Amino acid sequence: MTVRFLLDGEVVELGEVDPTATLLDHLRYRLRRTGTKEGCAEGDCGACTVLVGEAQNDTVQWRAVNACIQFLPMLHGKALKTVESLSRSGTLDPVQACMAANGSSQCGFCTPGFVMALHGKAIGALGCELPVADVLAGNLCRCTGYGPIIEAGETIATAAADERELAARLHAIAGEGAGGEWRGRKWFAPRSSEALTRLLADHPEARLVAGATDVGLWVTKGLRDLGEVIFLGDVADLGQIAETSEALTLGATVRYAEAHAAMARLHPDLGELVRRIGGLQVRSAGTVGGNIANGSPIGDGPPALIALGAEVTLRSLAGRRTIPLEAYFLDYGKQDRRAGEFVESVRIARPDPHAVIHIAKLSRRFDSDISAVCGAIHLTVAGGRITAARVAFGGMAATPRRAGACEAALVGQPFTVATLDAAAEALRGDFTPLSDVRGSAAYRLDAAANLFRRLWLREQGTCISVLDLEAGHG
Ligand SMILES: Cc1cc2nc3c(=O)[nH]c(=O)nc-3n(C[C@H](O)[C@H](O)[C@H](O)COP(=O)(O)OP(=O)(O)OC[C@H]3O[C@@H](n4cnc5c(N)ncnc54)[C@H](O)[C@@H]3O)c2cc1C
Ligand code: FES
Ligand code: FES
Repeated sequence: MTVRFLLDGEVVELGEVDPTATLLDHLRYRLRRTGTKEGCAEGDCGACTVLVGEAQNDTVQWRAVNACIQFLPMLHGKALKTVESLSRSGTLDPVQACMAANGSSQCGFCTPGFVMALHGKAIGALGCELPVADVLAGNLCRCTGYGPIIEAGETIATAAADERELAARLHAIAGEGAGGEWRGRKWFAPRSSEALTRLLADHPEARLVAGATDVGLWVTKGLRDLGEVIFLGDVADLGQIAETSEALTLGATVRYAEAHAAMARLHPDLGELVRRIGGLQVRSAGTVGGNIANGSPIGDGPPALIALGAEVTLRSLAGRRTIPLEAYFLDYGKQDRRAGEFVESVRIARPDPHAVIHIAKLSRRFDSDISAVCGAIHLTVAGGRITAARVAFGGMAATPRRAGACEAALVGQPFTVATLDAAAEALRGDFTPLSDVRGSAAYRLDAAANLFRRLWLREQGTCISVLDLEAGHG
């Protein structure tokens, strides 16, 4: 089996593929496309940004991704653009010309990454509707300063091309899918959840890889051998979004950037949370299912989804089972995933429009940073009294989890600032957080408790969050 992809319209065909070789290394060391830079090798700086195009019926959906944490087999059946693709005609692409004219580059190391992120916006890539500053939040520049780069970006218009021919070529090169063996290690890329179910039954120890925004770092930073690998990116039926008046159901491989709008429609705070998960490159690869399955105590999706009462469906050859999301997280690094099972989907019931919801991510840097605390409060209030409460936190314990004592202090009480203060106090008994580089235990407890005050002020119409400021409420 081979991995086939299109680079500037030419088919690149790779026979023997190390399943965890990165696209960045392949570009730089094999194809000598050294315009794509390596800054951090962990998805943080955007210097390695490339565009990957995927056929969707007769169109192509482009995504800006970090080549440093994309594994080569993930490119099978896709189109690839690197910074070299842009000026093949000998003249600068409009984005490059704008950047040059605007003095948007000094040492130039970060420039190809910025150019590719902006080119993505120009051609209608996933997330192109976001403001320029959001499109560029996953790109770091050490010397120019962001002003001239953002100014250049703001002059660029978005226009998606007719790419029916490219879509047809991509369907043709994808064929029956990819898979192979490298130095005795098998890897697979099934195309349906049915096939995945059978594969996992035969290879229960295989490492599942969805967007590789977590797993990629185990290889580039942890130097880990992943053993057998099953890539989920081509499992078409796991990438579905179903939005009804009752619920939003996200297939496990739906990427955060794809889910963003639907999640924002569920509740604006949820949309704001998603906007702050990594940078656009990370959200254009990282999946909702991977965020859950990874089981990280500092993952941003799970606390919010737990507070909203989400359920996760797990599937194996033995069938499906659906459990409350909070029940999935057993202990640090331990999830309720049985041999041969995979996360199939997550269902989030649409909250009551009168529910009081506050979701907040607290991190040292606003953009593209890991949470010190991620909290979500979801209250049902009837006749001035709290009739139900779901409160969940990340960054406060070994797993994302609910705050039982805090919830007990809320239910049955009048919806007043005194009740919220009492709940904030009770919360201190729910968690014994750790101190680490992101925050001390005392900071975490204080910051989590303060979210109740913030909720109250917001309910009173007092400007308190960035979301409110941006919406012009302050
Ligand atoms: C620079 C950077 C910034 C980031 N910022 C944030 C952030 O702000 N907030 C945040 O929450 N996360 C953040 N992350 C982490 C990561 O992007 C998310 O956790 C992402 O959702 C993981 O999804 P993935 O598809 O990339 O998972 P992968 O890396 O492919 O997989 C993660 C884990 O889940 C397992 N897995 C994946 N899919 C399934 C499935 N369907 N069934 C069972 N197991 C499965 C894998 O085996 C692996 O153990 C960041 C990562 C990077 C590199
Ligand atoms: S090298 Fe920094 S994001 Fe890839
Ligand atoms: S121009 Fe030097 S890092 Fe951006």
